[in-house]
Amino acid sequence: MVDPRAALVMAYHARSKHALDRYAAGPGTLDWEAQPKAFRDWTGCAQTVLSREVLAGDIAWGELAAKREPLPFDAHSLGSFFRLSLGLTAWKEYGAARWSLRAHPSSGNLHPTESWLITSQVPGITDGLHHYQNLLHALERRAWNDEASAPGVWLGFSSIHWREAWKYGERAFRYCQLDMGHVLAAVSYAAALHGWRPHLLSLDANEVAQALGVDRAEDFANVEAEEAEVIVALHADENAPATTWQHYAGTPSLLDPRPLYQWPVIEEVAAATRGAAPATSAYPQTASIQVDAADIRATQVILKRRSAQAFDGESVMPHALLKHMLNALLAGGSPVWNLWPHTPRVHPVLLVHRVEGVAPGVYVLPRAESAVASLRAAMRDSFTWQRADDELPLYQLIAARAGKTARTLSCHQDIATHCAVTFMMVAEFAAPIAADPAAYRHLHWEAGMLGHIITLEAEAAGWRGTGIGCFFDDADHEVIGLKDTQFQVIYHYAVGMALEDARISTLPAYA
Ligand SMILES: Cc1cc2nc3c(=O)[nH]c(=O)nc-3n(C[C@H](O)[C@H](O)[C@H](O)COP(=O)(O)O)c2cc1C
Repeated sequence: MVDPRAALVMAYHARSKHALDRYAAGPGTLDWEAQPKAFRDWTGCAQTVLSREVLAGDIAWGELAAKREPLPFDAHSLGSFFRLSLGLTAWKEYGAARWSLRAHPSSGNLHPTESWLITSQVPGITDGLHHYQNLLHALERRAWNDEASAPGVWLGFSSIHWREAWKYGERAFRYCQLDMGHVLAAVSYAAALHGWRPHLLSLDANEVAQALGVDRAEDFANVEAEEAEVIVALHADENAPATTWQHYAGTPSLLDPRPLYQWPVIEEVAAATRGAAPATSAYPQTASIQVDAADIRATQVILKRRSAQAFDGESVMPHALLKHMLNALLAGGSPVWNLWPHTPRVHPVLLVHRVEGVAPGVYVLPRAESAVASLRAAMRDSFTWQRADDELPLYQLIAARAGKTARTLSCHQDIATHCAVTFMMVAEFAAPIAADPAAYRHLHWEAGMLGHIITLEAEAAGWRGTGIGCFFDDADHEVIGLKDTQFQVIYHYAVGMALEDARISTLPAYA
């Protein structure tokens, strides 16, 4: 018998597809003046302004994954950690418009993810649950208990769907989940720089909601709700955070005083996909291939990361960069896979336009040996599956100039053809969702993580990436021959040489 939750997820996925002749349901017109506020604050909470100093500034990008002495947890090191993972990295200005950017990209720069910190016995930070206010780089103390619990530091995340749904309608739930994947990857890199080894807690969704206080309907009665996502322990030991609180403070701010549309299917798919994050697993984090380490400072890579808004359409990517990126996507190739040590279920298909020594064409990087046969059986019969690299599990499927196809498939966006490589993230789909509907979130997290790794590896080499959430789902499937929902493409990513828009000026994140 089909789990009704899984059926609902599959139906949501189908109706939120963009097609060549029909976009998923969304607002017909947008009132840009009415964009929901980018920052939620909590009034009536005790505030702790965090240190803005970025620590670990001397570590080279190529050394990032090396084991290092962990910095002690305190207000100072956590201030540095937040700057490098969730904080603002710049303000941009163009004419009268002014907007901020963060260490991680976000669909439409709408940043649906809210971040929380739970601490116990951390010097400089009062015990309890704190909301991280990115704009001020400050903690707002939201809840606490009378008795101290076991020492520890945990991050929590929740999504405000309305921030994305305001602009993107029904497809917005997917974007919130892809963003969550970027956030988890950003956390992994920043933690590695501080010598910390974060891991996800496999808590029930209700417990996560309770621990973050977002289950308190009375507090959110007149403001946008927050959907609990996951809790991450920043320390290696098994100490668990408090998940109930005796005292609460503060009121969340309203983001949009005049919401115009309703997309009830988003709340339905959110409910259907509530579940625990996968427990730790022992997928072998095999030794990565030897690659020349970039000696640019890792903090610089993280703080200067931007999405390209346009690519030059002519630069040829060095072969070494492609290998670097692909290697980092494999288990063991990036600190992200310490946080997500699971059997890979999302496999990039590459449309290679301009890479030195690599024939233009369609390629695939099955990230798990076990996926090779099933991908091969599911994709076009005419694909040749020629091994395209001695070290990486990269296969050429067909030689082709696929630039125009990439643009068409990516909602006609030029970035998909002016880049050097367009990635299509192919997820194992129907079976994982049938087994656990929460996998719908986790697959999008994994795809977001892949995007984040690509973007930072590109950035370290002077190139740039851009996430592409807008693509024509079933047109993708037709091009690579996928006929059913065993696999689905859930994200695109473009990497190339960025063109800068000189009219936009850059200001510091925290003046
Ligand atoms: C899930 C996701 C989907 C995105 N989709 C698109 C897209 O379809 N087209 C595009 O030009 N940029 C896209 N972006 C890039 C965002 O617009 C960009 O991250 C945002 O404007 C913030 O800028 P920054 O990344 O430079 O900080 C996407 C980003 C994410 C994370």
